[in-house]
Amino acid sequence: MSVPTVAERAIRRRIARHGPITFAEYMERALYGTGGYYSRNAVGTDYYTSPQVHPAFGALLAVQLFHFWELLNRPDPFFVIEPGAGDGLLGRDISKAAHHLPAGFSDSLRYIAGDRRPGGWDARSPALAAVVSDALRLPFRNVTGCIISNELLDALPVHRVRMEHGSLRELYVGIQSDVADGYEGQFEEITGDPSTTKLERRLSDINITLTEGQTAEICLALDEWAVSVASVLDAGFVTTIDYGRAALGLYDPVQRPHGTLVTYSSHRQTDTPLVDPGRQDVTAQVDFTSVQRAGEQAGLTTLGNMPQGRFLSRLGLQTIRRNGPPPEAGGGGWITIPINPESTLPDALTEPFGPAQDETRDWLTGLTHLVRPGGLGDFRVLVQAKGLPADRAASAIAWLDGGDATGEHAPRELAAMIPAESLALGPERFRLAGPALL
Ligand SMILES: C[S@@+](CC[C@H](N)C(=O)[O-])C[C@H]1O[C@@H](n2cnc3c(N)ncnc32)[C@H](O)[C@@H]1O
Repeated sequence: MSVPTVAERAIRRRIARHGPITFAEYMERALYGTGGYYSRNAVGTDYYTSPQVHPAFGALLAVQLFHFWELLNRPDPFFVIEPGAGDGLLGRDISKAAHHLPAGFSDSLRYIAGDRRPGGWDARSPALAAVVSDALRLPFRNVTGCIISNELLDALPVHRVRMEHGSLRELYVGIQSDVADGYEGQFEEITGDPSTTKLERRLSDINITLTEGQTAEICLALDEWAVSVASVLDAGFVTTIDYGRAALGLYDPVQRPHGTLVTYSSHRQTDTPLVDPGRQDVTAQVDFTSVQRAGEQAGLTTLGNMPQGRFLSRLGLQTIRRNGPPPEAGGGGWITIPINPESTLPDALTEPFGPAQDETRDWLTGLTHLVRPGGLGDFRVLVQAKGLPADRAASAIAWLDGGDATGEHAPRELAAMIPAESLALGPERFRLAGPALL
């Protein structure tokens, strides 16, 4: 047995003194308490995120942000706030790509990377500022710009509930009572009355009735998130990227009778939330119906919600791929294959390539991973807006479909302006084994 982490000892003391705690409190302490997972582990130790896979992710988001800036009439400053930014890699990629976009966009861009834990970030770009801040209580007001997040909401604590004998029950975390002093026993799941009526209310708000025996997660913090981001913006957009789905799918009793909570350790899915708190990541899929609904109640308009694969393809991922890897990646073996610009990903990416050197292969593989179905390509991208006339807000999404009513640059034109040289993987990326390329 491994030595208990500081987080585990703190959880044990808390339960021994005050009795069982909600799973949400357990998760909060296991991830963010003293000695918790995120205070001990750098992002990417046990999992990888899109920015860690490829700089094209940030570059394509820069293309999207450029258009938001245009829709807002090119405000200067144009703030982009990223809560839950981890080590700030996405902000660096966005700022770097922004330099290649036209009309002085990057001079107006003020990128603020925030995280609740003091950063492993380093603000290498002058456009990047870093702050310690809680996403649920963002300390900004009267902002014109965009709030962007990647894999933040899935890291917010969730309550666990189960339907038993027709009543909603909550799952608490206790310590097995066969050991007298309470310090040595294993953590155990204990069922009790819900800790708050908000749990039942949430399910009824999204028209979900759990079936007998079904277990599910509920993230009440989504409401705080929505109020937090809406209160920051005077005018602008909220782009939320995460894995999850609409409530109907998320709470499907056949597909997901035990909920979606998973744990990760050393890049393996472990699914043992009550083991080794502080040493493993704990996460649950995001209920996008509730994110949308909470946003609408807080004053945001929902503009669109689509898979990451489609989103990045429409922003010009094909163009970046056609421009090829940076020369220092060893493009000597790179064969440019003419492809139909209308072809859809990911099929186009499975075409055979010429003999590629390692760096080129990693570069292409990373690009594929960003849009891979069954992986990052299935993540959801939710775009919400505040303070914009309806026609302007709507064109944020229409533009992705090639709509160019205002004569502005189309997404692919902008993506083509970002040179291959600025899209090198570098040592900070996570190298993945190729799924389809080689
Ligand atoms: C899965 S990581 C994602 C990091 C980064 N966005 C990326 O894509 O690589 C989740 C991050 O959210 C941060 N986080 C979790 N809850 C937060 C909160 N309430 N406020 C700010 N940051 C939070 C964690 O510290 C962690 O850095």
